Amino acid sequence: MSTASAVLTEQLIAAHALPEEGYAQLIREHTEEDALRLRDEAVRLRRAIYGNAVYTRGLLEISNICKNDCLYCGIRRSNKKLERYRLRPDEILASAEKGHALGFRTFVLQGGEDGYYTDELLIPLIREMKARWPDSAVTLSLGERTDESYKALYEAGADRYLLRHETADAAHYARLHPADMSFENRMRCLQTLRETGYQVGCGMMVGSPFQTAEHLAKDLHFIKTFQPDMCGIGPFIPHKDTPFRDKSAGTLALTCFLLSVIRLIHPPVLLPATTALGTIHPRGRELGIASGANVVMPNLTPVRFREQYALYDNKICTGEEAAECRGCLEARMTSIGYEIVTDRGDVKGGHARREPT
Ligand code: 5AD
Ligand code: FES
Repeated sequence: MSTASAVLTEQLIAAHALPEEGYAQLIREHTEEDALRLRDEAVRLRRAIYGNAVYTRGLLEISNICKNDCLYCGIRRSNKKLERYRLRPDEILASAEKGHALGFRTFVLQGGEDGYYTDELLIPLIREMKARWPDSAVTLSLGERTDESYKALYEAGADRYLLRHETADAAHYARLHPADMSFENRMRCLQTLRETGYQVGCGMMVGSPFQTAEHLAKDLHFIKTFQPDMCGIGPFIPHKDTPFRDKSAGTLALTCFLLSVIRLIHPPVLLPATTALGTIHPRGRELGIASGANVVMPNLTPVRFREQYALYDNKICTGEEAAECRGCLEARMTSIGYEIVTDRGDVKGGHARREPT
């Protein structure tokens, strides 16, 4: 006789969805066998859409200055121990130039919410990047901005925007963030980004403090309904200079399980095997790809700043040159039968860039 979790597993495979309570029950009760079954099915689906291609994005951590105080994050403004830095546009362009020569066709500009990066600064920078590398996509990951700003940056040529929702449960959101940050605004930003025309990425940490199976079920339900182009998930890892220093990290097993589930509920999604996953296990990124992920994000940040972009403890790749991270991931992907491709890596079946109106 089949157990309840095996029934849910088959239901998920057949329908590409479960009722929210079904996700929670599956998260709580799934066996090793269920996880393997979901993993195989996720890999099969991903292979049907993307073959054995793994897309890559050059990650530029442009600033560790942040006006926010998220309780989990090492670059929160209350962390006085951290030495702060920001990259000027000429430094960003120089790193992207190196990245392009290495084969990157997507650049992700990621940073804290740093007021230095005004629209006046970013617009010419984005224009310059698109003019120099018309074959490449520009992805922004710069947090919450105004609707006008999102629109102006899109009009300047930015293609994609990553803004993790962090948790789809308002009460849980309030336990991870100070009172001056709002769940409603986060969700509103995601809607605006979508309406503006960006390819949009959301995402959450796995095993963040106070997270329950019900919270994760809400995240999955949100992903199913929002249908993001990208979804960034990785384990929570405590940082020593944050209020969550003593909390435990998320696990490899649950992260990989959720990667498989997300692939099943939204097959074309671009799903990175994150640096955080590579930090909690030496082969975390390979295992993430083998569970259904299809994107890796080697670090292109100048090495002298990498230690300082410490969102969590023991982050990998802080001592490597850009070319080494690229080469390392190429070798890692080859070792498991995948191939890193020189391609923008747009979502399949998604929308072509809509010209700004
Ligand atoms: N552990 C894991 N991920 C973290 N992030 C921030 N702090 C941590 C941490 N301690 C994630 C958040 C953020 C993304 C850039 O990094 O989800 O959106
Ligand atoms: Fe940076 Fe392996 S990806 S060294």
